[in-house]
Amino acid sequence: MLSAVHRALVHLPIGFFLLVLFMELMVWRRYKMGEKNSAAVTNTHQWLSWMWMALAASSIIALISGTLLQNSGYYAGQTFTLHRFTAYAFTILSCLVAVAHQYRAWGDKISFFLKVTMVPLVMLAGHAGGELSAGPELMAIVPEPEHPNLSAEDTVRVYPHIIQPIFETKCLRCHHQGNARGGVSMDSPEALLTDSLGDPVIYPGDLERSLGYQRMILSPWDHRVMPPSGPPLTYHEKRLVEWWIMENAPFEASLADLNIPADLLQVLQSDFDYRTQSSAFYEKVKAEPIDSNTLRAVVAAGWNISRLAQRTHFLDVHRKGRLDSLSLDDWQALEPIAANIVWFDLSNQTVPAAAFNLIGKMPNLYRLQLQNTNIDNEDLKHLTDLQHLHTLNLFGTSITDESIPYLTKMPVLQRLFIGNTPLYEIGVDSVAQWLPGVAIN
Ligand code: HEC
Repeated sequence: MLSAVHRALVHLPIGFFLLVLFMELMVWRRYKMGEKNSAAVTNTHQWLSWMWMALAASSIIALISGTLLQNSGYYAGQTFTLHRFTAYAFTILSCLVAVAHQYRAWGDKISFFLKVTMVPLVMLAGHAGGELSAGPELMAIVPEPEHPNLSAEDTVRVYPHIIQPIFETKCLRCHHQGNARGGVSMDSPEALLTDSLGDPVIYPGDLERSLGYQRMILSPWDHRVMPPSGPPLTYHEKRLVEWWIMENAPFEASLADLNIPADLLQVLQSDFDYRTQSSAFYEKVKAEPIDSNTLRAVVAAGWNISRLAQRTHFLDVHRKGRLDSLSLDDWQALEPIAANIVWFDLSNQTVPAAAFNLIGKMPNLYRLQLQNTNIDNEDLKHLTDLQHLHTLNLFGTSITDESIPYLTKMPVLQRLFIGNTPLYEIGVDSVAQWLPGVAIN
């Protein structure tokens, strides 16, 4: 409200100033034409004096409204300091010139100098004032965010790619170092985390003490809600900021480093074009690159390997031909790449018992195909520590209901194929009851 009044009031002195400049120009022209003492010139001079008085008076009024506005505590920062300084200077000069005119004091030179000085002052004051009320052109001061590869979690950095852009579009206009409304600046991690006066904008892990969060979740009718004008925060944006604060407000972490609740995964997909199938866990974990010598040794040991996707180091490993021709050394060739194996296909093979121990140590194994192999109930106990095993195919094996205790221990098992096994005879429904949440075929 007050800021609207101030904005209206400052246009008066600006208008007067333009008028006065124009009239001064006219008088000066007549001077040049040698009409120094003509009635018209004397007349205009008198008018000019009045105009300067009006200019000085309106400047003072604008200054008072500005001072009241300042006392509201809304404004701080370099832009504001510049605005205030130039406005004071302009008002003082306009008063001096008005007095000089009225009493025809001082020489023309000094008067001229004062008037000329006022031109840059009013321009600076106006520019800074405009920036304060409308916000500066942010693009000029904020570097373009880097574009992450939004389909791979480990390249999406939560703060610079998700949180900071929210602040940039919804808060920074009024909360950066040049224009720190309410003394709050949000353009650096330090500024977000520190506040000398009370609670900081962001308090990692504590929503109550995160003043910025508290102010943005107020109802839109609360006059303290942030942002006070312009497009409000969407529900999704508030939710993302809330989640980030509760994850301890990390500034370096990537999506893969944090827990993403299901609702936010959807938000990321819909609002940020973040693409992932819920099954694509291997985008959450990093795989180390494998040097070519190691790869060659694996291939030489009789394994077929292919990359899961072009830019990952995750592998799909399978074997055509009979496995019993593989020596234990050949199995051990897999050890250096154990963390890279995501899909492992041993179907229709004879798997030596010792191999299950090795398979159980493939930390990122996601899909294991053991259909028509010699695996038995006991072998399964080696597989219960696999933290990512999502799909297990035991079709055509000899497993029975004694495998259930091992199967229930598998932490993330989602799909289980048991067709053509003794276990299947018991009935899919019974097995499903033992293994809630697992799709059984
Ligand atoms: C249009 C300008 C504008 C925008 C945009 C804006 N604010 Fe503010 N903000 C202000 C003003 C003015 C104040 C000081 C008056 C007040 O506290 O209400 C302020 C004060 C604050 C304070 C300090 C409150 C206190 O009690 O010290 C916080 C924190 C804050 N804003 C956070 C935000 C956040 C977070 C956003 C973005 C979601 C935001 N602001 C967007 C103008 C803005």
